[in-house]
Amino acid sequence: MDLADKYLFPTYKRSHVVLVRGEGCRVWDEDGKEYLDFVAGIAVCALGHSSPVVSSALEDQSRKLVHVSNLYYTKPQAELAQLLVENSFADRVFFCNSGAEANEAAIKLARRYCREKYGPGRHTIITMKGSFHGRTMATLSATGQAKIQAGYDPLLEGFKFVPFNDLEGLKEAVDDSVCAVMLEPIQGEGGVVCPRPGYLQGVKDLCLQKGLLLIFDEVQTGMGRTGKLFAHENFGVTPHIMSLAKALGNGLPIGAMLSVEELSSAFGPGSHATTFGGTPLVTAAAKAVVASLLNGGWLAHCSRMGDYFRSELEKLKANHPVIKEIRGLGLMVGVELEEPGAPVVEGCLERGFLINCAQEKVLRFVPPLVVGKKEIDGLIHALDEVLK
Ligand SMILES: Cc1ncc(COP(=O)(O)O)c(C=O)c1O
Repeated sequence: MDLADKYLFPTYKRSHVVLVRGEGCRVWDEDGKEYLDFVAGIAVCALGHSSPVVSSALEDQSRKLVHVSNLYYTKPQAELAQLLVENSFADRVFFCNSGAEANEAAIKLARRYCREKYGPGRHTIITMKGSFHGRTMATLSATGQAKIQAGYDPLLEGFKFVPFNDLEGLKEAVDDSVCAVMLEPIQGEGGVVCPRPGYLQGVKDLCLQKGLLLIFDEVQTGMGRTGKLFAHENFGVTPHIMSLAKALGNGLPIGAMLSVEELSSAFGPGSHATTFGGTPLVTAAAKAVVASLLNGGWLAHCSRMGDYFRSELEKLKANHPVIKEIRGLGLMVGVELEEPGAPVVEGCLERGFLINCAQEKVLRFVPPLVVGKKEIDGLIHALDEVLK
C-alpha cells in the first residue's frame, strides 16, 4: 500500500486490502483473510477467479503463439469472431483491448459509415444522461456525466444527451446532424437503471424511421450478466452495432465491436487498427470463456441466482426502510439507499464481502455468474447486520 501510494497516480480511491489470490467467488488478502467477491472486477470475472477454463486455454496458447501483428491471420481470433457472430445479431467483429476502445470503434464506424452514405454533416451521436462509455477523450465526451468530463475541456464535438427512458426527449433531439443513438440497455455506472417496458423497442423504431444507427454498449451488461448472452436479448431488440469487453476475457484485457454486414465496408483496410487487439493469447482465452458461458449452463444459473438474490433483497427491504429500491436483471443488481452507500461497503468489507457503490447511493452487486445460494445468503446476512 505504501509503494502504491508513493508511486502510482492517485486516480483510485482504494479499499485498504491487498488481494493476493482468488478462486471461484472468493479472494484472499495477504493476511489470509477470505472475502466473498460480489464485485468480480466490476462484472469481469463471470466464470470466477482462477477459472480452470481460462487457465488451461492460456497455458496451451502461451506455448504456441502469444502475439503477432494483425497483418497476419491467426486461428483463435477468427474462431472467437465466428463464435460471437454465430451467437448474436452481428456479422462482423473488430477486436481491441477494453470497453472504451470498443466504444471508440463503434463511434468511429458509425461516423465513417454515415459520412460515406450521406456525405459530411451527419455525425452527431445521441447518448443518455447518466450513461458511462469510458475514459478516453471520445468516450468520456459521449458519457452523460459531468463528473467524468470535469477538467478535460475541450470535449470532442458531436454528442448530444437526452434522459434515459424518455422516448419523447429522444425524438425531439433528432435533427439532420444525427447519425446514431448509443446507449447501455441497462445503465451500470449510472446506478443499475433498467429500461422501461417498450423503451428499447421505441428507440429502435425511431432509429429505423429516421435512418439512424443504433449502438448498444454491452460492455457491462454483455456476456451472460443478465441471464442472456447479451442484455438486449431480454428485450427482443437488436442494435446495428454493439460493444463488448469486461467478462469477454474473464479478466484478460479484451474488447470487441460487432456490427451488421452493411456497415463493414466503412471499416476497410487502414481505417482502424490496434497493436494488441485480438492477440492469439487473449482470444484463445476469450473463446474458452464464451464456449463455457454458452455450454456450461451458466446463463440459466445466472437467471435463477439473480431471481433468488433479488427476492432475498426484497425481504431485507421489508426490515430496512433505508432501502429505497431494488433493481436489476440476472446478476446485475442495484440497491438504491436513502443514504450514501460508502459506510455499507466498508461494513461489508470488514465482514469479508466485497461490494461496490455506484452514484453514491446505489449498492451494486455484479458477482461471478457461478455464485451460489450459500454465498448469496452469506451476503444477505452481512447486509442485514451492517444496515442495522
Ligand atoms: C457500459 C460501459 N461502457 C464502457 C466502459 C469502459 O470500459 P473500460 O474500463 O474497459 O474501458 C465501462 C466500464 O465500466 C462500462 O461499464
